[in-house]
Amino acid sequence: MTVTANPNQALWEKGDFTQVAEAMRASGEALVARLGITPGTRLLDLGCGDGTTAVPAARLGAEVLGVDIASNLVAAGNQRAEAESLTKCRFQEGDASHLDDLADDSFDLVVSIFGAMFAPRPSDVAKEMVRVTRPGGQIVMGNWIPNDPTLVAQILKISSSYSPPPPEGFISPMTWGVEENVIERFAQAGIPSDRIDFSRETYTFEYPAAPTKLLAVFRTYYGPTMNAYAAAEANGRTEALHQELTALFTSHNTSPNADATSIPATFLQVSVSV
Ligand SMILES: C[S@@+](CC[C@H](N)C(=O)[O-])C[C@H]1O[C@@H](n2cnc3c(N)ncnc32)[C@H](O)[C@@H]1O
Repeated sequence: MTVTANPNQALWEKGDFTQVAEAMRASGEALVARLGITPGTRLLDLGCGDGTTAVPAARLGAEVLGVDIASNLVAAGNQRAEAESLTKCRFQEGDASHLDDLADDSFDLVVSIFGAMFAPRPSDVAKEMVRVTRPGGQIVMGNWIPNDPTLVAQILKISSSYSPPPPEGFISPMTWGVEENVIERFAQAGIPSDRIDFSRETYTFEYPAAPTKLLAVFRTYYGPTMNAYAAAEANGRTEALHQELTALFTSHNTSPNADATSIPATFLQVSVSV
């Protein structure tokens, strides 16, 4: 594990999100296919992980920069791009709250799928996304929705109920899944509400084994779930947490095959015209 003083970075460098991302590739590709990308589209993928959306965007001919706070995921993204000879797809470390080395108006499309929502200072994130998007360009965010009954919102809700309270002043990433908050944050960045569209969309987690095996992937590799198990263990509540998550993963599996997992999860898609 990398030791770092930035807790946001430490959370995501813990474990290995690439293992979870393997279950998200098909939905990532499907989302990218809806974005109207054409060869030469200058695309920034913020909080890109190892490129679940960046790589398929580059396959469509976009010139892609992936920015992520986690150095291990940046390295994994660059390896994936290299393996596919995607010469116009590169990944670098950066923080969505302050994209210091990116120039104003430099992208046609800024995408952030379950990425920038995890950065601190959400109003700064909105301002930075708007600043680097050219006038007439688009921002597309995918954000998990608080209290939504589907998989990821429930994983995060259950995990937080076993974890110590966050530090004072912490703004939950889930607030990005509430339309009023999104409107307020983009208003502070100079974008009126009539230039923001919302829709409810679905990401499906596909895994070639039983849902308990996918839970094991989250337990072993997904920072927020790893932290929840560690906190539960410290309080002698590991079994209770494990049972709750097992029931969640099992009951949400829609695959007719017991040795396969297909779990849909609802998210808020935010489309902003800059
Ligand atoms: C749930 S993962 C999603 C990754 C990717 N977008 C995908 O769809 O697979 C969240 C990502 O956001 C990144 N992230 C968290 N905080 C960030 C920040 N402040 N700036 C940039 N990236 C950040 C994490 O490192 C992680 O890769």
